[in-house]
Amino acid sequence: MQKRGRFITFEGIDGAGKSTHIAGTAELLRQHGHSVVCTREPGGTPLGEKLRELLLHERMHLETEALLMFAARREHLAEVIEPALARGEWVVCDRFSDATYAYQGGGRGLDKTKFEALEQWVHGHLHPDLTFLFDLAPAIAGERIAAQGRDLDKFEQERADFHARVREAYLERAAAAPQRICVIDAGQSVEAIKAQVQGTIANRYL
Ligand code: TMP
Repeated sequence: MQKRGRFITFEGIDGAGKSTHIAGTAELLRQHGHSVVCTREPGGTPLGEKLRELLLHERMHLETEALLMFAARREHLAEVIEPALARGEWVVCDRFSDATYAYQGGGRGLDKTKFEALEQWVHGHLHPDLTFLFDLAPAIAGERIAAQGRDLDKFEQERADFHARVREAYLERAAAAPQRICVIDAGQSVEAIKAQVQGTIANRYL
């Protein structure tokens, strides 16, 4: 029987700088002979990408937002994540359910017991093996986003106190699951972050 692949996720407030390291992680794993699926949330499937458009740009009831995040996730699990893991491939995903706890729970202030019920429904049987939380002060993350000079999505347009609550909620989740969630100081150099991320993966799995 094919050995199940591993599921690695990347999290953090907007502007924390995950993208470079997601690509680097996929490359490292491929160099070690693993097949890798790189994907993202919300999104990762044709339907999920349509939901992403709505989620990032349309105003909606805050509970609708949380429910659509989990709806997109259900599709993503069924169409992409679960089949890839079953084939023995590794899945590297830009955000997963920790983001719902952080953004819709911490940022929006919704009751997290509702997410626990949805999480149980949607993926009670499957959780990330390892999560990197890119931690950065919202003021610095905001400067990085502003320097990119592009149009901002609904979440990026939120005020600094929203991002501060998202950050706090992420750190609370990391404190509650220290084995799974590895907190990275995203204020370090790209090289230092790369060494920490890739070193952690190498120590655990390679
Ligand atoms: P990103 O692809 O640039 O990280 O953008 C996705 C945005 O969606 C980001 O601002 C975080 C937000 N988000 C949530 O609010 N809840 C979620 O469950 C997920 C997966 C993302």
